[in-house]
Amino acid sequence: MLLSRFPRCYRGARAAAFAVEASQPIGFVGRREPRVLSSYGNLRGLRVVKQGRISQTALKVALGLITLSVKDDWAQRLPPGLVEVTERLLLASGSPGYGPGLMRASKKQWMVRVYQIQDRMMPGQWEGFGHRKIFMQQQVEAAIEEGARQVLVLGAGFDTLCLRLAPQHSHVHFFEVDHPTTSAAKAKGVAVEGQPANMIQIAADLGERALSKVLSEDGRWQFSQPSVLLAEGLFQYLTNDEVRGLLSDAAACTSAGSRIAFTHVIPGKRKTLRTMVRLVGEPWKSAVRSGDLPEYVEGTGWAIISDVDTESAHGVERYAVAERR
Ligand SMILES: C[S@@+](CC[C@H](N)C(=O)[O-])C[C@H]1O[C@@H](n2cnc3c(N)ncnc32)[C@H](O)[C@@H]1O
Repeated sequence: MLLSRFPRCYRGARAAAFAVEASQPIGFVGRREPRVLSSYGNLRGLRVVKQGRISQTALKVALGLITLSVKDDWAQRLPPGLVEVTERLLLASGSPGYGPGLMRASKKQWMVRVYQIQDRMMPGQWEGFGHRKIFMQQQVEAAIEEGARQVLVLGAGFDTLCLRLAPQHSHVHFFEVDHPTTSAAKAKGVAVEGQPANMIQIAADLGERALSKVLSEDGRWQFSQPSVLLAEGLFQYLTNDEVRGLLSDAAACTSAGSRIAFTHVIPGKRKTLRTMVRLVGEPWKSAVRSGDLPEYVEGTGWAIISDVDTESAHGVERYAVAERR
């Protein structure tokens, strides 16, 4: 098998570096599904991340970005500081295999070639991470410019946006919510970086607890403040019903004019992808066409304000922005 020809440090983290995010058929049901779910109860039973295990897909995105930074001009295109902070977070996380050896290997040209092989089978699956990060940062910066006072990153993984932007926007509060195990692993790195006073990490399994409850219990989220939410690489781990349930619940936590920027997987068969990503064990459960999003979010309290995303460079994902009505 291909992996056996790579250095030990790479083999040790095979799932993180090589496998991709999905492992199950993509079940877009569209109009045949029940339309809207206002209750959080629809999220109950959701077990996207195995209990007690750091999200492998979150690690994979982070590691993929480090390798992307040594390809072509990606180092200049990625938001400043993203790669350096990501690397430090991974090293501090205590994730098995994520030591200095893997970080060094991830910046080698042979690793770029590994990802390029993967990209040939699943176009856009790697560089898409870079496009995603650029898109999300642009959305957050635009929203802050227009008055947002809170940023909430759902399923934050090892994303560095809050850590990097919080010091630049002291009047804005930055929140992250992630599954407890992944959140705890990231918290080690956040402590090493120095947690900004206006950044709040909340550990919560959104399959167990409603976002609105999580935020109320924490007590620092202001329901009436203009806010921008991010759900990057998250919705595919929820069923279509669960996505709409989460959107409804997110609407209950935000004031009119707030925004949510998110990525979603588009429908397709993708046999190779499904086979390869079975390794990761975090199956995809939903997909929706970009053009169908207005109807998809109808009744959740959000309206799509972005254009239909037809960009093939985004791989199997598309990006969108919705506004709280
Ligand atoms: C593919 S990763 C994306 C990470 C990050 N948003 C990024 O794009 O770099 C998916 C993230 O969703 C989080 N997640 C999945 N299920 C969750 C749940 N039930 N509750 C909270 N977070 C969850 C995982 O822990 C993981 O960090």
